[in-house]
Amino acid sequence: MTSIIQVDPLHPEPERIARAASVLRAGGLVAFPTETVYGLGANALDADAVRRIYQAKGRPGYNPLIAHVADEEGARRLASRWPPLAARLAEAFWPGPLTLVVPRRPEVPDVVTAGLDTVAVRAPSHPVARALITAAGVPVAAPSANRFTELSPTLARHVERSLGGRVDLIVDGGPTTVGIESTVVDVSGDAPLLLRPGGISAEELEPLTGPLAAMGPIAGSEARPSPGMIERHYAPRAELRLFDSDRRGAAADAARVESERGRKVGALLLAPLAAPIRHPILMPTDPAAYARALYASLHLLDEEGCDVVLVERVPGTRRWEGVADRLERGAVRVVGHGG
Ligand code: TXA
Ligand code: MG
Repeated sequence: MTSIIQVDPLHPEPERIARAASVLRAGGLVAFPTETVYGLGANALDADAVRRIYQAKGRPGYNPLIAHVADEEGARRLASRWPPLAARLAEAFWPGPLTLVVPRRPEVPDVVTAGLDTVAVRAPSHPVARALITAAGVPVAAPSANRFTELSPTLARHVERSLGGRVDLIVDGGPTTVGIESTVVDVSGDAPLLLRPGGISAEELEPLTGPLAAMGPIAGSEARPSPGMIERHYAPRAELRLFDSDRRGAAADAARVESERGRKVGALLLAPLAAPIRHPILMPTDPAAYARALYASLHLLDEEGCDVVLVERVPGTRRWEGVADRLERGAVRVVGHGG
Protein backbone atom coordinates (compact mmCIF):
# COMPACT_ATOMS: atom_id res chain seq x y z
CA MET A 1 0.00 0.00 0.00
CA THR A 2 1.22 3.44 -0.89
CA SER A 3 0.25 6.40 1.28
CA ILE A 4 0.36 9.93 -0.07
CA ILE A 5 0.89 12.99 2.11
CA GLN A 6 0.61 16.58 0.99
CA VAL A 7 3.24 18.98 2.22
CA ASP A 8 3.74 22.69 1.75
CA PRO A 9 6.52 22.94 -0.87
CA LEU A 10 8.16 25.99 0.69
CA HIS A 11 7.44 25.40 4.38
CA PRO A 12 7.02 21.65 4.79
CA GLU A 13 5.11 20.72 7.96
CA PRO A 14 7.65 19.23 10.40
CA GLU A 15 5.35 16.46 11.65
CA ARG A 16 4.66 15.27 8.10
CA ILE A 17 8.35 15.32 7.26
CA ALA A 18 9.04 13.41 10.50
CA ARG A 19 6.65 10.70 9.39
CA ALA A 20 8.40 10.36 6.02
CA ALA A 21 11.80 10.39 7.71
CA SER A 22 10.78 7.55 10.02
CA VAL A 23 9.75 5.45 7.01
CA LEU A 24 13.23 6.03 5.56
CA ARG A 25 14.95 5.15 8.81
CA ALA A 26 12.90 1.96 9.04
CA GLY A 27 14.22 0.84 5.65
CA GLY A 28 11.19 1.92 3.60
CA LEU A 29 10.87 3.69 0.26
CA VAL A 30 9.73 7.32 0.14
CA ALA A 31 9.14 9.26 -3.08
CA PHE A 32 9.75 12.97 -2.57
CA PRO A 33 10.11 16.14 -4.63
CA THR A 34 13.48 17.62 -5.47
CA GLU A 35 13.91 20.77 -7.55
CA THR A 36 14.70 18.60 -10.61
CA VAL A 37 12.32 15.61 -10.58
CA TYR A 38 10.72 13.44 -7.90
CA GLY A 39 13.16 10.98 -6.35
CA LEU A 40 12.56 7.47 -5.04
CA GLY A 41 14.45 7.52 -1.77
CA ALA A 42 15.91 4.98 0.63
CA ASN A 43 18.50 5.16 3.40
CA ALA A 44 21.75 5.07 1.40
CA LEU A 45 23.59 3.29 4.22
CA ASP A 46 21.05 0.44 4.35
CA ALA A 47 21.85 -1.98 1.51
CA ASP A 48 18.56 -3.87 1.87
CA ALA A 49 16.56 -0.66 1.63
CA VAL A 50 18.50 0.42 -1.46
CA ARG A 51 17.89 -2.98 -3.06
CA ARG A 52 14.17 -2.25 -2.79
CA ILE A 53 14.67 0.82 -5.00
CA TYR A 54 15.97 -1.37 -7.81
CA GLN A 55 13.06 -3.78 -7.34
CA ALA A 56 10.44 -1.04 -7.34
CA LYS A 57 11.89 0.57 -10.46
CA GLY A 58 12.68 -2.64 -12.30
CA ARG A 59 16.11 -1.08 -12.74
CA PRO A 60 19.16 -3.16 -13.64
CA GLY A 61 21.82 -3.38 -10.92
CA TYR A 62 24.57 -1.80 -12.99
CA ASN A 63 23.03 1.66 -12.60
CA PRO A 64 24.58 3.48 -9.66
CA LEU A 65 22.45 5.86 -7.60
CA ILE A 66 22.90 9.42 -6.36
CA ALA A 67 23.25 9.87 -2.59
CA HIS A 68 21.35 12.99 -1.57
CA VAL A 69 22.83 14.94 1.31
CA ALA A 70 22.00 18.13 3.17
CA ASP A 71 25.27 19.90 2.46
CA GLU A 72 28.93 19.61 1.56
CA GLU A 73 29.77 18.18 4.96
CA GLY A 74 27.26 15.38 4.41
CA ALA A 75 28.83 14.66 1.03
CA ARG A 76 32.35 14.57 2.42
CA ARG A 77 31.29 11.87 4.86
CA LEU A 78 30.72 9.59 1.87
CA ALA A 79 33.90 10.56 0.00
CA SER A 80 37.36 9.11 0.62
CA ARG A 81 38.84 12.23 -0.95
CA TRP A 82 37.19 15.59 -1.60
CA PRO A 83 38.94 17.09 -4.63
CA PRO A 84 39.48 20.88 -4.59
CA LEU A 85 37.21 21.16 -7.63
CA ALA A 86 34.41 19.38 -5.72
CA ALA A 87 34.76 21.98 -2.99
CA ARG A 88 34.61 24.85 -5.49
CA LEU A 89 31.60 23.42 -7.32
CA ALA A 90 29.73 22.62 -4.11
CA GLU A 91 30.40 26.11 -2.85
CA ALA A 92 29.08 27.65 -6.07
CA PHE A 93 26.14 25.39 -6.95
CA TRP A 94 24.90 23.62 -3.81
CA PRO A 95 22.26 23.24 -2.81
CA GLY A 96 21.13 22.73 -6.40
CA PRO A 97 20.82 20.53 -9.50
CA LEU A 98 24.47 19.44 -9.67
CA THR A 99 25.68 15.91 -8.90
CA LEU A 100 29.36 15.30 -8.21
CA VAL A 101 31.04 11.93 -8.70
CA VAL A 102 33.86 11.53 -6.17
CA PRO A 103 35.97 8.69 -4.75
CA ARG A 104 33.85 6.77 -2.26
CA ARG A 105 34.39 5.53 1.24
CA PRO A 106 34.10 1.80 1.83
CA GLU A 107 31.08 2.36 4.13
CA VAL A 108 28.95 3.29 1.12
CA PRO A 109 27.19 0.04 0.15
CA ASP A 110 28.11 -1.47 -3.22
CA VAL A 111 24.45 -1.51 -4.16
CA VAL A 112 24.47 2.32 -4.17
CA THR A 113 27.53 2.64 -6.40
CA ALA A 114 26.98 -0.51 -8.48
CA GLY A 115 30.38 -1.61 -7.22
CA LEU A 116 32.24 1.40 -8.66
CA ASP A 117 34.97 3.01 -6.56
CA THR A 118 33.19 6.36 -6.84
CA VAL A 119 29.94 7.69 -5.42
CA ALA A 120 27.60 10.34 -6.83
CA VAL A 121 26.51 12.98 -4.31
CA ARG A 122 24.10 15.89 -4.53
CA ALA A 123 22.64 18.42 -2.10
CA PRO A 124 19.20 19.25 -3.53
CA SER A 125 17.76 22.71 -2.99
CA HIS A 126 14.08 21.77 -2.71
CA PRO A 127 12.88 22.66 0.82
CA VAL A 128 11.01 19.34 1.12
CA ALA A 129 14.05 17.30 0.07
CA ARG A 130 16.28 19.26 2.41
CA ALA A 131 13.89 18.88 5.34
CA LEU A 132 13.51 15.16 4.70
CA ILE A 133 17.25 14.46 4.46
CA THR A 134 17.90 16.46 7.62
CA ALA A 135 15.09 14.79 9.55
CA ALA A 136 16.15 11.30 8.41
CA GLY A 137 19.71 12.02 9.52
CA VAL A 138 21.10 9.75 6.82
CA PRO A 139 22.13 10.20 3.18
CA VAL A 140 19.22 9.34 0.90
CA ALA A 141 19.88 7.28 -2.23
CA ALA A 142 17.36 8.30 -4.86
CA PRO A 143 16.96 7.77 -8.57
CA SER A 144 14.08 9.43 -10.38
CA ALA A 145 10.79 7.98 -9.09
CA ASN A 146 9.65 6.17 -12.22
CA ARG A 147 9.83 2.63 -13.56
CA PHE A 148 13.03 1.96 -15.50
CA THR A 149 13.05 3.70 -18.94
CA GLU A 150 9.76 5.53 -18.28
CA LEU A 151 9.43 9.31 -18.16
CA SER A 152 10.76 11.03 -15.07
CA PRO A 153 8.09 12.44 -12.74
CA THR A 154 7.65 16.12 -12.07
CA LEU A 155 4.36 15.71 -10.18
CA ALA A 156 3.30 13.34 -7.38
CA ARG A 157 0.58 12.10 -9.74
CA HIS A 158 3.26 10.88 -12.17
CA VAL A 159 4.93 8.92 -9.36
CA GLU A 160 1.65 7.41 -8.28
CA ARG A 161 0.86 6.26 -11.80
CA SER A 162 4.27 4.70 -12.33
CA LEU A 163 5.11 3.32 -8.87
CA GLY A 164 1.81 3.24 -6.96
CA GLY A 165 1.73 0.10 -4.80
CA ARG A 166 5.51 -0.29 -5.01
CA VAL A 167 6.56 2.45 -2.59
CA ASP A 168 5.60 3.03 1.03
CA LEU A 169 4.98 6.74 0.88
CA ILE A 170 4.72 9.54 -1.68
CA VAL A 171 5.38 13.03 -0.36
CA ASP A 172 3.42 15.41 -2.59
CA GLY A 173 5.13 18.79 -2.64
CA GLY A 174 3.65 20.04 -5.92
CA PRO A 175 5.39 20.45 -9.27
CA THR A 176 9.18 20.45 -9.47
CA THR A 177 10.74 23.66 -10.73
CA VAL A 178 13.85 22.71 -12.74
CA GLY A 179 12.04 19.87 -14.51
CA ILE A 180 14.98 17.84 -15.84
CA GLU A 181 17.53 15.85 -13.85
CA SER A 182 20.69 17.23 -12.32
CA THR A 183 23.90 17.75 -14.25
CA VAL A 184 26.38 14.98 -13.38
CA VAL A 185 30.09 15.86 -13.30
CA ASP A 186 32.81 13.36 -12.47
CA VAL A 187 35.51 15.14 -10.50
CA SER A 188 37.25 11.95 -9.31
CA GLY A 189 39.89 11.91 -12.06
CA ASP A 190 42.54 14.26 -13.39
CA ALA A 191 40.16 16.17 -15.63
CA PRO A 192 36.47 16.79 -14.88
CA LEU A 193 34.03 14.94 -17.11
CA LEU A 194 30.44 15.88 -17.93
CA LEU A 195 28.55 12.59 -17.54
CA ARG A 196 25.03 13.96 -17.99
CA PRO A 197 23.90 17.43 -19.04
CA GLY A 198 21.08 18.72 -16.85
CA GLY A 199 19.73 21.45 -14.64
CA ILE A 200 22.95 23.46 -14.66
CA SER A 201 24.48 24.08 -18.08
CA ALA A 202 28.10 23.33 -18.90
CA GLU A 203 28.40 27.01 -19.74
CA GLU A 204 27.71 27.87 -16.09
CA LEU A 205 30.18 25.25 -14.84
CA GLU A 206 33.11 25.98 -17.12
CA PRO A 207 34.30 29.15 -15.39
CA LEU A 208 35.12 26.79 -12.48
CA THR A 209 35.92 23.53 -14.27
CA GLY A 210 37.63 24.78 -17.40
CA PRO A 211 36.60 23.13 -20.69
CA LEU A 212 34.30 20.22 -19.82
CA ALA A 213 34.69 17.09 -21.90
CA ALA A 214 31.48 15.09 -22.32
CA MET A 215 31.11 11.31 -22.18
CA GLY A 216 29.71 9.82 -25.39
CA PRO A 217 26.87 7.27 -25.39
CA ILE A 218 27.89 3.72 -24.55
CA ALA A 219 26.17 0.67 -26.01
CA GLY A 220 25.71 -2.69 -24.32
CA SER A 221 24.86 -3.58 -20.75
CA GLU A 222 28.20 -4.16 -19.01
CA ALA A 223 29.25 -1.92 -16.13
CA ARG A 224 29.39 1.62 -17.41
CA PRO A 225 30.59 4.88 -15.96
CA SER A 226 27.22 6.50 -16.32
CA PRO A 227 23.85 4.94 -17.02
CA GLY A 228 22.62 8.40 -17.96
CA MET A 229 24.23 7.30 -21.20
CA ILE A 230 21.81 4.46 -21.81
CA GLU A 231 19.97 5.09 -25.02
CA ARG A 232 16.19 5.26 -25.11
CA HIS A 233 15.95 6.55 -21.60
CA TYR A 234 13.41 9.15 -20.51
CA ALA A 235 10.95 7.79 -23.05
CA PRO A 236 7.19 8.38 -23.15
CA ARG A 237 4.79 5.69 -24.38
CA ALA A 238 4.19 7.57 -27.62
CA GLU A 239 6.70 7.49 -30.42
CA LEU A 240 8.73 10.71 -30.38
CA ARG A 241 9.87 12.05 -33.72
CA LEU A 242 12.19 15.01 -33.86
CA PHE A 243 12.22 17.50 -36.67
CA ASP A 244 14.37 20.54 -37.39
CA SER A 245 12.76 23.96 -37.47
CA ASP A 246 13.63 24.29 -41.17
CA ARG A 247 11.70 21.07 -41.86
CA ARG A 248 8.31 22.20 -40.59
CA GLY A 249 6.74 21.32 -43.94
CA ALA A 250 7.92 17.72 -43.61
CA ALA A 251 6.58 17.62 -40.05
CA ALA A 252 3.16 18.87 -41.20
CA ASP A 253 3.16 16.15 -43.88
CA ALA A 254 4.02 13.54 -41.27
CA ALA A 255 1.15 14.77 -39.08
CA ARG A 256 -1.24 14.44 -42.02
CA VAL A 257 -0.07 10.93 -42.91
CA GLU A 258 -0.24 9.72 -39.32
CA SER A 259 -3.67 11.18 -38.60
CA GLU A 260 -5.01 9.71 -41.87
CA ARG A 261 -3.74 6.35 -40.62
CA GLY A 262 -5.90 6.91 -37.55
CA ARG A 263 -3.06 7.60 -35.16
CA LYS A 264 -3.46 10.27 -32.52
CA VAL A 265 -0.80 12.95 -33.09
CA GLY A 266 0.64 15.29 -30.50
CA ALA A 267 3.42 17.84 -30.85
CA LEU A 268 5.90 19.92 -28.87
CA LEU A 269 6.40 23.05 -30.94
CA LEU A 270 8.42 26.24 -30.72
CA ALA A 271 5.95 28.08 -32.98
CA PRO A 272 2.43 27.23 -34.19
CA LEU A 273 2.27 24.67 -37.02
CA ALA A 274 -0.69 24.42 -39.42
CA ALA A 275 -1.21 20.65 -39.46
CA PRO A 276 -3.75 18.06 -38.27
CA ILE A 277 -2.29 17.72 -34.78
CA ARG A 278 -4.79 16.68 -32.08
CA HIS A 279 -2.68 17.85 -29.17
CA PRO A 280 -0.21 20.56 -30.13
CA ILE A 281 1.73 22.06 -27.22
CA LEU A 282 3.46 25.36 -27.75
CA MET A 283 6.63 25.12 -25.66
CA PRO A 284 8.56 28.00 -24.09
CA THR A 285 11.47 29.34 -26.12
CA ASP A 286 13.67 29.82 -23.06
CA PRO A 287 15.67 26.70 -22.07
CA ALA A 288 14.90 26.84 -18.33
CA ALA A 289 11.16 27.29 -18.92
CA TYR A 290 11.21 24.57 -21.59
CA ALA A 291 12.95 22.16 -19.20
CA ARG A 292 10.38 22.88 -16.50
CA ALA A 293 7.54 22.02 -18.89
CA LEU A 294 9.13 19.13 -20.79
CA TYR A 295 8.29 15.97 -18.80
CA ALA A 296 4.90 17.30 -17.69
CA SER A 297 4.02 17.93 -21.35
CA LEU A 298 5.11 14.45 -22.41
CA HIS A 299 3.16 12.92 -19.51
CA LEU A 300 0.13 14.89 -20.65
CA LEU A 301 0.43 13.65 -24.25
CA ASP A 302 0.72 10.09 -22.92
CA GLU A 303 -2.39 10.65 -20.81
CA GLU A 304 -4.20 11.88 -23.93
CA GLY A 305 -3.27 8.61 -25.60
CA CYS A 306 -1.06 10.09 -28.33
CA ASP A 307 0.56 7.51 -30.58
CA VAL A 308 3.06 9.87 -32.18
CA VAL A 309 4.55 13.08 -30.86
CA LEU A 310 6.29 15.39 -33.31
CA VAL A 311 8.96 17.37 -31.53
CA GLU A 312 10.55 20.48 -32.96
CA ARG A 313 14.27 20.34 -32.27
CA VAL A 314 15.55 22.95 -29.84
CA PRO A 315 18.54 25.17 -30.69
CA GLY A 316 21.92 23.43 -30.71
CA THR A 317 23.50 25.82 -28.22
CA ARG A 318 24.97 24.73 -24.87
CA ARG A 319 22.19 26.36 -22.86
CA TRP A 320 19.82 23.86 -24.48
CA GLU A 321 22.07 20.83 -23.94
CA GLY A 322 20.08 19.29 -21.07
CA VAL A 323 16.76 19.55 -22.92
CA ALA A 324 18.24 18.40 -26.25
CA ASP A 325 19.76 15.36 -24.51
CA ARG A 326 16.37 14.28 -23.09
CA LEU A 327 14.65 14.75 -26.46
CA GLU A 328 17.27 12.84 -28.43
CA ARG A 329 17.21 9.95 -25.95
CA GLY A 330 13.44 9.78 -25.95
CA ALA A 331 13.18 9.79 -29.73
CA VAL A 332 13.19 6.68 -31.82
CA ARG A 333 12.85 8.22 -35.26
CA VAL A 334 13.49 11.49 -36.96
CA VAL A 335 11.24 13.33 -39.39
CA GLY A 336 12.84 14.58 -42.57
CA HIS A 337 16.17 12.87 -41.99
CA GLY A 338 15.46 9.84 -44.11
CA GLY A 339 14.88 7.60 -41.07
O1 TXA B 1 18.10 15.26 -10.58
C1 TXA B 1 18.49 14.13 -10.33
O2 TXA B 1 19.67 13.80 -10.45
C2 TXA B 1 17.43 13.11 -9.86
C3 TXA B 1 16.90 13.59 -8.52
C4 TXA B 1 16.00 12.58 -7.87
O3 TXA B 1 17.97 13.94 -7.67
N1 TXA B 1 18.01 11.81 -9.76
C5 TXA B 1 18.35 11.09 -10.85
O4 TXA B 1 18.83 9.84 -10.55
O5 TXA B 1 18.24 11.49 -11.99
P1 TXA B 1 19.03 8.71 -11.64
O6 TXA B 1 19.31 7.49 -10.88
O7 TXA B 1 17.86 8.68 -12.57
O8 TXA B 1 20.32 9.14 -12.39
C6 TXA B 1 21.56 9.01 -11.69
C7 TXA B 1 22.71 9.39 -12.58
C8 TXA B 1 22.96 8.33 -13.58
O9 TXA B 1 22.80 8.84 -14.87
C9 TXA B 1 24.42 7.99 -13.39
O10 TXA B 1 25.05 8.32 -14.57
C10 TXA B 1 24.96 8.91 -12.39
O11 TXA B 1 23.86 9.50 -11.75
N2 TXA B 1 25.83 8.22 -11.43
C11 TXA B 1 25.51 7.79 -10.19
N3 TXA B 1 26.57 7.27 -9.58
C12 TXA B 1 27.61 7.36 -10.43
C13 TXA B 1 28.98 7.00 -10.35
N4 TXA B 1 29.53 6.46 -9.27
N5 TXA B 1 29.73 7.24 -11.43
C14 TXA B 1 29.20 7.82 -12.53
N6 TXA B 1 27.92 8.19 -12.65
C15 TXA B 1 27.13 7.96 -11.62
MG1 MG C 1 16.11 8.41 -14.11
